[in-house]
Amino acid sequence: MLNLDEKKLLFEKKGFIILENLLNTKTANTNFDQVKKEVYHSYASNYDKIKLLSGFITGNLDLKPSKVILRVWEDLKEQGISEVIKKLTNKSLNDFDLKYAGNISLPKKGDQFYHTDGTKRPRKILIGVPIEDLNEIDGPTELIPGSHIQKISYWKFHLKKFFKKKIKLVLKKGDIFIRESYIWHKGTKNNSTKLRIIVLFILSEKNGNFSQQEILNNVEFGDNMFEVSLYGKIKEMISVYLPFFYFVYKFLISIIRK
Ligand SMILES: [Fe+2]
Repeated sequence: MLNLDEKKLLFEKKGFIILENLLNTKTANTNFDQVKKEVYHSYASNYDKIKLLSGFITGNLDLKPSKVILRVWEDLKEQGISEVIKKLTNKSLNDFDLKYAGNISLPKKGDQFYHTDGTKRPRKILIGVPIEDLNEIDGPTELIPGSHIQKISYWKFHLKKFFKKKIKLVLKKGDIFIRESYIWHKGTKNNSTKLRIIVLFILSEKNGNFSQQEILNNVEFGDNMFEVSLYGKIKEMISVYLPFFYFVYKFLISIIRK
């Protein structure tokens, strides 16, 4: 039985929690196998298109969901995700818009710069489901506990970051994580030879901007992080091949814009 009071305290303080062994059912395993099959199929058959996506050079791409993700969500609901979210946020699932998503990190790539996913408001919460064991070698997400509480600029964050504890979301198949989207985090390098696949459910506080999402017949890869333009490509190349310059650029820009 989950101790939700304890999880709530942890979530408020650290901005993330891990729920161990929540999706350890036969249905969950079948769904995970299906996601994996679709992702690998898409990777093999669309590689030429995937190479052109924003995020490919970094090695961190979006997963555009197929119908199997709806089944993962049903499974999560059966395992009590509604009660968990209610406890953590004092709001019901109906108070949030739900987006089905995911993230894929490519073998030998995927190291990102620290960032937050969007702005602090409207509040967004991510529920992450790895489809298999997610070890240190597989490029887990690294985050700074507690960094969701205060809004902070890029340059200030980096001055403080060295003194902060960093956590990697190393998980077993069946575990899930829940995190504030605003927490400072990054994808780490996937040193394995396989694709690192995480299914994501993004809960956004309703603000009237929800548009119906297209659910595909098969999983596809999508752009991630950088703008889809020549300018975006150049920025991404600099971030990968000249990371120090990219860091200085972002650092200075955040000082100018403060
Ligand atoms: Fe992110």
